[in-house]
Amino acid sequence: MKRVYLETWGCQMNFHDSERVLGLLRQKGYVRVDDPREADVILFNTCSIREKAEHKFLSRLGRTKGLKKRNPSLKIAVLGCIAQQSGEKLKEKAPYVDYVIGPQNINRVGEALELEEGVLTDDNPEIALSDIPAYRESTVSAWVNIMYGCNNFCSYCIVPYTRGRERSRPAENIVREIEELVKNGYKEVTLLGQNVNSYSGNVTFPELLRMVNKIEGLERIRFVTSHPKDLGPELVQAMAECEKVCEHIHLPLQSGSDRILKLMNRKYTMEQYYEKIRMLRDAIPAIAITTDIIAGFPTERDEDHQATIEALKEIEFDGIFAFKYSKRPYTRASKMDGQLPEEVKAERLNQILRLQDEITERKNKLLKNTVQEVLVEGKNDSGQYTGRTRTNKIVNINKADGLTAGQIVKVLITEPHRHSLEGRLT
Ligand code: SAH
Ligand code: SF4
Ligand code: F3S
Repeated sequence: MKRVYLETWGCQMNFHDSERVLGLLRQKGYVRVDDPREADVILFNTCSIREKAEHKFLSRLGRTKGLKKRNPSLKIAVLGCIAQQSGEKLKEKAPYVDYVIGPQNINRVGEALELEEGVLTDDNPEIALSDIPAYRESTVSAWVNIMYGCNNFCSYCIVPYTRGRERSRPAENIVREIEELVKNGYKEVTLLGQNVNSYSGNVTFPELLRMVNKIEGLERIRFVTSHPKDLGPELVQAMAECEKVCEHIHLPLQSGSDRILKLMNRKYTMEQYYEKIRMLRDAIPAIAITTDIIAGFPTERDEDHQATIEALKEIEFDGIFAFKYSKRPYTRASKMDGQLPEEVKAERLNQILRLQDEITERKNKLLKNTVQEVLVEGKNDSGQYTGRTRTNKIVNINKADGLTAGQIVKVLITEPHRHSLEGRLT
């Protein structure tokens, strides 16, 4: 029996990769421990989307050096996007790292750990065909990969370099995995891909949604992420017609300025983005729309920033993730002239966040005294049952003894907050 300690950073894709790495290692007889000092092997599943994420990890890694001194047989493995980005160089920089394994190679983690050391960062198309067992954290809601990699090369983004080219899983494999999940009591699945709209297994993404929608016993279907350039009427129609597909879409905008969108290589204009929003809201009136915004992309002028502010006011997203632009290796934007000073990026980000806070709060207030369908996921830190609406808003339920995770209940919203709602059973 070997003891593994695992820490994960980054996106849902990375968290799900960790679940699958744990699944694989459990088959090989590993057990998970919560204290790195008790581990035989430490795994870090890393993210390099922004420089800050990379720095945080490197300082975390530095602190494990001491553990290795105390226990020379301890093994340290770096997985995820930093592993792929740095490869061999990471072992030079931190010689106490034993394994470097990129995201396309997680199906080989078991074999890799049997060797003394190693670097696994080759292109691995097999990943889309291998059914890796996942050891999932939730018993209610499951992430399911439908595709890997990204071909879009947005000029700021490192993901195409860390996750490789797009590869889709065959639809049958996806459906089989979800049927199995439902047998095991799961009620909700989130289909994962960097750009699910360009899914190209043997069927299209809207067709895949219809297939999954037919799975008996499944209650809810979600998916992330949708690239606006590929969001068409077929998908909107499938979303509207499939009763299990939730009324929520995450549709990253990035900037409200056509000039900046072009430099970002996003391949849509604001006019086209507005058209997609109209299409979604016409077909699915209850839909919640969330987005990502980057503040301070190279050459961004005040008028570009104002265009983003205008877009936020006009569209009124239900929520946003906003970040300061960060220079990433290999990317085209990192070589552009007109990189902005930190203070400018920070000030613009602040304005964006402040505005969105008002909007989110205002929108949540409208939900007071409405009844929402909530899928109970478990209890929160203060002991309240908690779950999400179909529109992906967190609801904490007061005085609700005896609920169980996986139940779908009707909740009267009594207290809307900015980042969650509070209510009681009806
Ligand atoms: N494939 C998804 C998500 C990718 S990363 C998509 O296309 O939406 C998630 C978010 O991180 C992106 O939407 C973007 O807003 C942000 N991001 C990516 N690279 C960044 C960078 N270099 N600096 C700041 N934010 C970045
Ligand atoms: Fe990055 Fe763009 Fe691909 Fe998203 S679509 S992962 S932002 S390159
Ligand atoms: Fe995800 Fe971070 Fe990689 S956001 S794809 S883990 S760079």
